[in-house]
Amino acid sequence: MKDKTSTPWVMMNMAMTADGKTSGPKEANGFPKTPSMSRFSSKADHRRLLQIRATTDAVMSGRATVESDAIDLGPGSKHWQRERCRHGREACNKRIVVSASGRIQPHCLIYQNSCSPLLIATTQSGLASARASTRAYDWIRVEAFGEEKINLKQCMRWLQKHWQVRRLVVEGGGHLNDAMFRAGLVDELFLTLCPLIYGGRHHATIADGVGFTQLSDAYRLRCVERKRKGRELFLRFLREPDGKV
Ligand SMILES: NC(=O)c1ccc[n+]([C@@H]2O[C@H](COP(=O)([O-])OP(=O)(O)OC[C@H]3O[C@@H](n4cnc5c(N)ncnc54)[C@H](OP(=O)(O)O)[C@@H]3O)[C@@H](O)[C@H]2O)c1
Repeated sequence: MKDKTSTPWVMMNMAMTADGKTSGPKEANGFPKTPSMSRFSSKADHRRLLQIRATTDAVMSGRATVESDAIDLGPGSKHWQRERCRHGREACNKRIVVSASGRIQPHCLIYQNSCSPLLIATTQSGLASARASTRAYDWIRVEAFGEEKINLKQCMRWLQKHWQVRRLVVEGGGHLNDAMFRAGLVDELFLTLCPLIYGGRHHATIADGVGFTQLSDAYRLRCVERKRKGRELFLRFLREPDGKV
């Protein structure tokens, strides 16, 4: 089991189609007008994303996710910022982008937006590149957690110790999620099930990357909440304690 005293409570929030895909066919009309994580889910799902963010100290994503769209990982409108303050949090959540290579594309919205401090969690081999591309942005901090591969547990401990992160939400994509599951770091999963089929074996899912190789190692969850709103199903799972199905 993870050490609860030195790492944050970790939530994961994802939307998926009925066939388990988290992204699929490209849209013809470019970026959406407002920053979003998923193009196929409803406004209610986007509201839930902001609602979950409002309960956290920090939001984390993989580099491919944040560089693929108009995403800033910020708290949203003044309404949500007030909501955060009402619960004793800073108006804007901290932000974390995970990149082993450190090959940051500094023109992307996520890096341009200075609404709150942003950590690039990288490796020793990605450090120089990440620092060089973000040197001009004093709201961005770059830290290495491991030589070639990122040690996510070490990153979680750093976030708790240096940024006082007690609650964190991970918002994909599948590669980062998979590594978070395999490191045993996910406590709670929010999943929105959307009535669409994308098909195709190459479209992303909740957890891609390496995965678990043995059934006995599979990550075990318990569904603790289900709500139907409009055409979607909003689910919440908690991690089962080790050894229980
Ligand atoms: N439906 C939803 O709710 C939702 C949510 C989020 C994303 N998405 C979709 O998911 C897709 C992107 O997912 P993805 O799986 O391709 O990418 P991802 O996990 O967002 O990012 C992958 C990149 O992040 C870095 N990274 C991730 N995990 C790492 C680890 N454990 N250690 C070191 N670096 C790590 C690496 O960056 P470097 O290459 O720099 O090393 C890697 O190439 C997009 O299409 C996006 O729209 C959907």
